[in-house]
Amino acid sequence: MVASPVIIDCDPGQDDAVALFLAMASPDELDILGITTVAGNVPLELTQRNARMMCDIAGRKDLPVFAGCERPLVRAPITAEYIHGNTGIDGVDVFEPVTPLQDDHAVSFIVETLVDAEPDSITLVPTGPMTNIAAAIGRSPEVVKGIRQIVSMGGAMREGGNRSPSAEFNILVDPHAAEVVYNCGKPIIAMGLDVTHQVLSTRERVARIRDVGNDVADATAGMLSFFHRYDTKKYGSEGAPLHDPCTVAWLLRPDLFATKRCNISVEKDSELTLGHTAVDFWHVTDRPHNVDWAYEVDADGFYDLLVERLARFGS
Ligand code: BDR
Ligand code: CA
Repeated sequence: MVASPVIIDCDPGQDDAVALFLAMASPDELDILGITTVAGNVPLELTQRNARMMCDIAGRKDLPVFAGCERPLVRAPITAEYIHGNTGIDGVDVFEPVTPLQDDHAVSFIVETLVDAEPDSITLVPTGPMTNIAAAIGRSPEVVKGIRQIVSMGGAMREGGNRSPSAEFNILVDPHAAEVVYNCGKPIIAMGLDVTHQVLSTRERVARIRDVGNDVADATAGMLSFFHRYDTKKYGSEGAPLHDPCTVAWLLRPDLFATKRCNISVEKDSELTLGHTAVDFWHVTDRPHNVDWAYEVDADGFYDLLVERLARFGS
């Protein structure tokens, strides 16, 4: 099997961090060309540091990490320290990573990589606001030809919003970027809250991860134990939704998910429903089908996959 080239565009964030670990544990399937970071859960100076920390913890100090956009395309930044903690990755001890920050801007890296790539060859995995990818498309529209597919975390249909009554956080932060990406004409798999709210990090599942007993699993269990607190109180659930790893899990095991091809459109004007994703699940409009919207996941299968992959890291 030839590993599929991917760029992971993220704003770590505990769940972004777990998505990175899952990808790093899967070199047979995924060839990580670079990790690009964006402002989102916490400001950019922390998301890039956190991504580099995860490379250190996973023993992948060779992976190029880039810092990207410090703010959304149009709107003022919104952060989420109240969920992720002031570091963005509360639950692990913060340290200054050895993995270097590349000199290039993330948007330049994305543009150069996609322009030089074979047509339809690179998979983009955005797990934060999609500012970097939209900025790359805006700067050089020909980048689109190099994209094979985009597997994104963002949006909500049946679940409603998590940062406003109508909107999921990543889309709320940069609705203008989401609109550009969803309409870029390439295959898009969208993991919204409808599916991420099905993969709850229950105490039993976190205990299974902790029992794996290596550094990466310990870091994962530590972060999830922190992440747990806010969401279990908010939703009255047994665990927190493990949003971002759904993207990487889909790349590894698409059979775990059910998706439906339909239109997604983003509200950009209304202050009340800003960032709402109007998912035309029942095809009641003639808007073009621009995404495969995920609506069901085998949660036990997802956690089996995560535990199996985390166990691949050395102790
Ligand atoms: C998304 O927002 C962030 O808080 C998480 O990292 C995830 O990407 C969930 O709404
Ligand atoms: Ca994220």
